[in-house]
Amino acid sequence: MDKSLEQIETFWNDNLCGNHFVNAPYPSREFFEEYRTFRYKKTHHLNSYIDWASAKGRDVLEVGLGIGADGTRWAKHASTYTGVDLTDEAVHATNKHLQLLGLDKTGKAVKGNAEKLQFDDAQFDIVYSHGVLHHTDNIKNTFNEINRVLKKDGQFIVMLYAKQSFNYWLRIQVWFRVRFLIALILNLFNINQSDLWKNHVRNFKKKGWAYFSWNDWPHHCTDGPDCDVANIYTRKEVKKMLSEAGFKVQEMKQAHFPAGLSEKTEQKLASFMGFHLITWAKK
Ligand SMILES: C[S@@+](CC[C@H](N)C(=O)[O-])C[C@H]1O[C@@H](n2cnc3c(N)ncnc32)[C@H](O)[C@@H]1O
Repeated sequence: MDKSLEQIETFWNDNLCGNHFVNAPYPSREFFEEYRTFRYKKTHHLNSYIDWASAKGRDVLEVGLGIGADGTRWAKHASTYTGVDLTDEAVHATNKHLQLLGLDKTGKAVKGNAEKLQFDDAQFDIVYSHGVLHHTDNIKNTFNEINRVLKKDGQFIVMLYAKQSFNYWLRIQVWFRVRFLIALILNLFNINQSDLWKNHVRNFKKKGWAYFSWNDWPHHCTDGPDCDVANIYTRKEVKKMLSEAGFKVQEMKQAHFPAGLSEKTEQKLASFMGFHLITWAKK
């Protein structure tokens, strides 16, 4: 395993997705229930944009699992659901989640790497990957691999971080930079601050100004200061990479603008400046 992949695995093993949003003890039934409620309230567009029921009679592969919330949605409808994740933690959580909902007959999670999938050619009808592939350094390899394991006319649904978004331009590149300079000043005067900003300052001390560079800073501002790889893409870049991997893009939608407004208003604003770029593509 190359060093970067090892770092990515360590990061996600230590930061099981969603764990810190829920109070119930992990991995109880209540924990998973609370997480699902939280997830589909915050990312409310998922239940309207993703047609889980389209999995009926189909073999579904999910790449990158977290604690398997979306996996349980797919497994409820699919002929078979297979989840693959780089980390033992996510595989264990997803299998527990499937088992607690009685979905472990058709659904299972296994350990694996999106850059070199262990599945046969043309094995799946649908491949779904939400908030995952921007965390690999070799996204093109993952698209090639996904194309390989999809059946002819199979569908790929992928969510990647969007560059044309409020989050990228205004929150990360403007506000978080100003806020970081404030954190440096607070640190200079030994004034206590939240772990988030303490960790940014700690990393800055280790890596120097490169940590704050135009290209590096955004990596540390989406999934936490210690996340080393979080790429953010334009629609054009995503289209190009997908077509180079042999896909035909069918539709692209921007989503996710959590501002405490009504779902309808958030969805409207998100359609042109949301941080989640969801793409539907055919093999
Ligand atoms: C931000 S979480 C997203 C999880 C889930 N899809 C969601 O929307 O909550 C990223 C997940 O992708 C996994 N991951 C990252 N790189 C991967 C790779 N190269 N192959 C497989 N899984 C990977 C991580 O272990 C982690 O569970």
